[in-house]
Amino acid sequence: MENVLSNPEKFVRAEVRQLVPYETKHMPQCIKLDANENPFPWPVGMHESMYSEKLAFNRYPDGMGQDLKKTISAYTKTSPEGILIGNGSDELIQLILLTFGGSGQSVIIHPPTFSMYQIAAHLTDTKVVEVPLLNGLDLDTDEILKASLSPEAHVVIICNPNNPTGSLFPREEILRLVRESGKIVVVDEAYAEFSDETLIPEIGNYPNLVILRTFSKAFGMAGLRLGYLLGQPETIALINRVRPPFNVNSFSQKAGILALGYLGEYQAQIQQIKAETHKLHEALTKLPNVTVYPTRANFILFKPSEPDRWAMELLKQGFLVRNMGVLPVLGKCLRISAGLPEENEGFMRAIREISAGSVES
Ligand SMILES: Cc1ncc(COP(=O)(O)O)c(C=O)c1O
Repeated sequence: MENVLSNPEKFVRAEVRQLVPYETKHMPQCIKLDANENPFPWPVGMHESMYSEKLAFNRYPDGMGQDLKKTISAYTKTSPEGILIGNGSDELIQLILLTFGGSGQSVIIHPPTFSMYQIAAHLTDTKVVEVPLLNGLDLDTDEILKASLSPEAHVVIICNPNNPTGSLFPREEILRLVRESGKIVVVDEAYAEFSDETLIPEIGNYPNLVILRTFSKAFGMAGLRLGYLLGQPETIALINRVRPPFNVNSFSQKAGILALGYLGEYQAQIQQIKAETHKLHEALTKLPNVTVYPTRANFILFKPSEPDRWAMELLKQGFLVRNMGVLPVLGKCLRISAGLPEENEGFMRAIREISAGSVES
């Protein structure tokens, strides 16, 4: 008689069978320069307000996130009906592809770019069409438009500024894609507070333009998982159909509302992070054995002569950096984000020593 206890693996969906889980490093003892976070603590008043709030955690959160949407609406100067909140923008990427992708439809991405687009595509049975960046850095608008001619192509995702390169693409190029592709164009503006560039004012002109934002970067809330989508109300209503009813917890909703009341304090942090990023960029540029790419975000992509050895040496000295592996055209690169000023000083001392070691050997 056949064993009634089945092997669970045989029931796994084909797409999931091929998936390698996304591994994250959790090394709180290190100086974390690997995840493009805001290294500063929350503004003092905000921290106090957050913990003096009496939130009813025995109740479900507001599934529609109405107060948070009102606050985001004032910050972005958009209508609350054109906002969808998510458990980090990671969740929202998945919801976009659940809505517009799937069933063999495709999403166009521009490698090297943020890896979650590809993962969400696999999870939602969406094909991935890759149009690599020109020289590893610049948007190939003509090729993306060609790829978008295919009836299967439903979504184009542009990451601006792009993670991991730091490139800021010309707004006219992106708007050309929005106008001429006729597809859903998602612009991921996770780092827009650092680049000071946004396409939000264009939303009213294009029902196929969707903008993705997050509280994880400039607002220092990576641990709370809070992101939002902006688009025309009719487009947002479509994505809202696939959203789990209580996807954003009450604590994160409250923190998001509070944060947008401390814009002055955050603006000071953002200016400091930009200045620190600039210092790190200059220090890397001065080293003889490193290629450094321009950035408009809070992180820097660079290519030392021996990236693996550099990542290892840095880790030995307590600095966690992101080893990007081999990127199209650019090859093996590392990525760092700006830490606290004293952390960055230590990092700059470390890379000068490591670089001098490379020259000697
Ligand atoms: C371009 C980009 N989009 C989205 C995210 C994810 O943001 P969240 O923390 O809101 O999921 C990241 C995080 O690194 C990112 O780099």
